[in-house]
Amino acid sequence: MADQFDVKLVEEAKYYTPPPEYRKNANMKDYEATYQEFLKDPEAFWASIAKELHWFSPWDKVLEWNYPYAKWFVNAKTNITYNCLDRHVFNHRRHKVAVIWRGEKGEECIYTYQMLYRNVMRFANGLKKLGIGKGDRVCIYMPMIPEQLIAMLACARIGAVHSVVFGGFGVTALNYRINDTGSKLVITADVGIRRGKSIPLKTLVEDAIINAPTVEKVVVLRRDEPKVELLAGIEVDYHELMEGVDAECKAEVMDSEDPLFILYTSGSTGAPKGVLHTCGGYMVGTYYTSKVVFDLKEDDLYWCTADVGWVTGHSYILYGPLAAGATVFIGEVVPDYPDAGNFWKLIEELGITIFYTAPTAIRMFMKMGEQWPDKYNLSSLRILGSVGEPLNPEAFEWYYKVIGKNRCPIVDTWWQTETGMQMITTMVGEKMRPGFAGKGIPGVIPEVVDKSGKEVKSGTLGFLTIKNPWPAMFRAIYKNDERYRKYWQTIPDVYTVGDLAVRGHDGYIMILGRADDIIIVAGHNIGTAEVESALVSHHSVAEAAVIGKADQMKGNLIKAFVILKLGQKPSDKLLHDLMYHVRMTLGPIAVPAEIEFVDKLPKTRSGKIMRRVLKAKELGIDPGDISTLEE
Ligand code: WTA
Repeated sequence: MADQFDVKLVEEAKYYTPPPEYRKNANMKDYEATYQEFLKDPEAFWASIAKELHWFSPWDKVLEWNYPYAKWFVNAKTNITYNCLDRHVFNHRRHKVAVIWRGEKGEECIYTYQMLYRNVMRFANGLKKLGIGKGDRVCIYMPMIPEQLIAMLACARIGAVHSVVFGGFGVTALNYRINDTGSKLVITADVGIRRGKSIPLKTLVEDAIINAPTVEKVVVLRRDEPKVELLAGIEVDYHELMEGVDAECKAEVMDSEDPLFILYTSGSTGAPKGVLHTCGGYMVGTYYTSKVVFDLKEDDLYWCTADVGWVTGHSYILYGPLAAGATVFIGEVVPDYPDAGNFWKLIEELGITIFYTAPTAIRMFMKMGEQWPDKYNLSSLRILGSVGEPLNPEAFEWYYKVIGKNRCPIVDTWWQTETGMQMITTMVGEKMRPGFAGKGIPGVIPEVVDKSGKEVKSGTLGFLTIKNPWPAMFRAIYKNDERYRKYWQTIPDVYTVGDLAVRGHDGYIMILGRADDIIIVAGHNIGTAEVESALVSHHSVAEAAVIGKADQMKGNLIKAFVILKLGQKPSDKLLHDLMYHVRMTLGPIAVPAEIEFVDKLPKTRSGKIMRRVLKAKELGIDPGDISTLEE
């Protein structure tokens, strides 16, 4: 990773300043002053934000910090859906548009806050009819359609804990998540649509629940005509479930610290980790950042291109923007289908004002060429955002000039599934520095340190850490306290992020990528261990080692080294079989771009594969200290 460290960029200090109106009209007008206000009294700072939301009863204490365990808004009662729905419906936003959805063929669907509210309550009552209640885990495996948002909100309405699995994951990945959470129910659709093709989600669910003893029912949204058959006794139709139930469903009274959802993220070793978020703090953190980072205004039309299956979708499609009363656009769409102008066409037609996407998408837009955005009128755009991996200076400049027309601020937001909310960025109106995400959001104290926790000098590579607890922080790794504690104990007293970073003289932070065995491919976290175990689960593979390799477009590619079992011969057919096997097991995002058959792998004496050595060999660089290498 350190080979990507660009000293010149750190010294150069090139800035872009958005037009002064942005600062004048921003929801957070003075970053420095707000940050000082936070430092002076962190709990009072967070309490004043929390007070903008509705609580059934107030907290006794803002924070109880029993390192490394936090409780926020102690003993307060609330429900996040009350803040995302009721609060608007019973005020001036009743008939404001909450969600606009578009499909690939231009199909459209619009929900006002009132419509969303009614649908969520009916579906919530449907869930109750199936015996789902507070604390039960529900797995949601759906395409990017409004019904997915409704399913999530309905769970939160009744206090059920949702575990959303990205619709691009394969059977094994889905099965693992269902079993680890002990989900009683799976909510899915017959198909998802992508580039004109149908993805048979229901069939994948049927395979994934073969060894999932906790699953009692599967709710299926049937989109295709004629309607697919449902398995008697287990599968229930989405719409039929909503028939004959009461139209009202009061929001369950949730303790601030009751779980809201579990979402899996890759670990550097072993199985994926179930990141657990709770109701109160997560609500406050995502509401606050949606309001100040995206500077949401009443008449904005906001589009986050992520899938709801990732944390970006949870926090910045659903909960944050709806808590802030925004109008959100979602689409079951891709940037290059039916042609490479698709996103720009949508922005022109709908008048999108805030656009939040990933660097890998921006680099793809760059490759497809300016002629595509240039065909459309993008003047409605007000703010651009980026998330998921470092936004390299070339991509920043292109995004700023070609899409933002040298006018729109870019918020390069650094955060993680674990942090729940955005943590580092440059606030709207502040000067921006390409290559640097920015500074800590008021409420967050980031620090770049060495292994012992000592702050490193500006311009020096170090580990990114967060010094203080924050409301939206994860509270647990589901059923694995040791893995939770590790985040806080790797470097004493602070949250170790797992990323490498450099701070400039001006305090701006550049994030360089992971410091561990997680590979970020096109903005998606993939653990080397997951891909290795998928490969080893193929009958011809004895051993596998996986590394990330820098790639211009996707940030990183997956490369696998495979030792075959005795009697197996390398061949093109086997290579393709292995790729297909990983696709079916984990999903398309985890398929190695390259597989190399080898006879042995570099290992330590204790038998651990030294990926660092493989990587150095692959890139033709010095592997560093190899004294622990066995052969
Ligand atoms: C990376 C996604 C640089 C980082 C919200 C982090 C970034 C991991 C940025 C978390 C950014 C995310 N600049 N790197 N703006 N945003 N990352 O859990 O390595 O899917 O640790 O959360 O993505 O990925 P996750």
